[in-house]
Amino acid sequence: MSAPLEVQVALGERGYPIRIGRGLLGESSHWRAALRGRQALIVTDDIVGAHYLDRVAAGLDGLEHAAVTIPSGERHKTLEQVERVFDALAAMRANRDVTLIALGGGVIGDLAGFAAACWMRGVGFVQMPTTLLAMVDSSVGGKTGVNLPAGKNLVGAFHQPRCVIADTDTLGTLPPREYRSGLAEVVKYGAIGDRAFFEWLEARADALLAREPAVLAEAIAASCRNKAAIVERDEREDGERALLNFGHTFGHALETEAGYGRLLHGEAVAIGMVMAARLAARIADAPQTDAERLAALLEKLDLPTRLPEAIEPGRLLDPMRLDKKNLDGRLRLILWDRLGAAHARFVDTDRVAAFLSSPTG
Ligand code: NAD
Ligand code: GLY
Repeated sequence: MSAPLEVQVALGERGYPIRIGRGLLGESSHWRAALRGRQALIVTDDIVGAHYLDRVAAGLDGLEHAAVTIPSGERHKTLEQVERVFDALAAMRANRDVTLIALGGGVIGDLAGFAAACWMRGVGFVQMPTTLLAMVDSSVGGKTGVNLPAGKNLVGAFHQPRCVIADTDTLGTLPPREYRSGLAEVVKYGAIGDRAFFEWLEARADALLAREPAVLAEAIAASCRNKAAIVERDEREDGERALLNFGHTFGHALETEAGYGRLLHGEAVAIGMVMAARLAARIADAPQTDAERLAALLEKLDLPTRLPEAIEPGRLLDPMRLDKKNLDGRLRLILWDRLGAAHARFVDTDRVAAFLSSPTG
């Protein structure tokens, strides 16, 4: 098996490697050094655990270890499930040298990372992402947290992992819709700041859809390089990191209006990115051809780019008004000057309302 690709997140003593390749979970030499103490706790969900828990546990010989299995799905990204992780740590009499292993998608990475940030005021953790979204986005950059009934990700902490192990073989069991949803976040990196990567993706859309291992590994590595560079410059989202929300303000509003679960996150982001690009063409002289080029790539990747028929576009404005980036009644949106050059911009609500009255016209 070829050597994994490696991307470094350079954050001084909190920096860490991201390793990407086939078979990494079963080859503990790639991650065992990140487990510095004598205890480890694997946190996974029931679907991922059924496939991959044994593979990871087999690499923990010589350590005292246990596992907590969370029910699969966003609705279980809760404080109640974090408490189950704490109970398991208490049962092990874990102290500060325990390492948590987050084995799963973004829900598990966020939840286990948050538990690691809190246990004894912070212990080490390793991200083992098993969805494409988690490999290219949520496992990198140290945002952790859980949902409250009042809203998504309201409680959390910045806590960087000790390493990220993206075993691309795990994507073989990921349902096609979840996989394509992750591709939307891959396209996002090209759209916001890396035109050459966007062009590379355009030339390899078929290979990506076919999950060709070498192309997939390179797409994940390039996405992680882009995210790492942004996180290194703006770890706490005081500025540039907000660009990672391209398409997300429209996307979150769409998820709310469609009803959670109807559209996957990446599907909503795909539609949202095209809306942002078209709005930029309408109000900021960005090229309309770039907006259509973005739509064409997403369509080639089998992602939606148009609002579902059931959603009246004007209804998106209310949930968009609730976005925490807004200020003084103006919406703060991520738009672009052109493909590969995104920026944050305040836009008057009236202009967004006018756009929503004919978003494709
Ligand atoms: P997820 O973790 O719910 O995984 C999606 C589904 O796929 C689940 O049913 C899961 O059980 C299943 N699954 C995971 N890996 C599998 C595999 N290899 N084979 C078969 N099934 C598998 O969702 P997600 O899309 O990975 O992550 C979404 C979460 O990520 C959200 O909670 C979001 O808030 C968070 N997120 C966080 C960040 C961050 O920076 N921390 C960034 C983006 C998203
Ligand atoms: N997914 C957004 C971020 O990591 O900042």
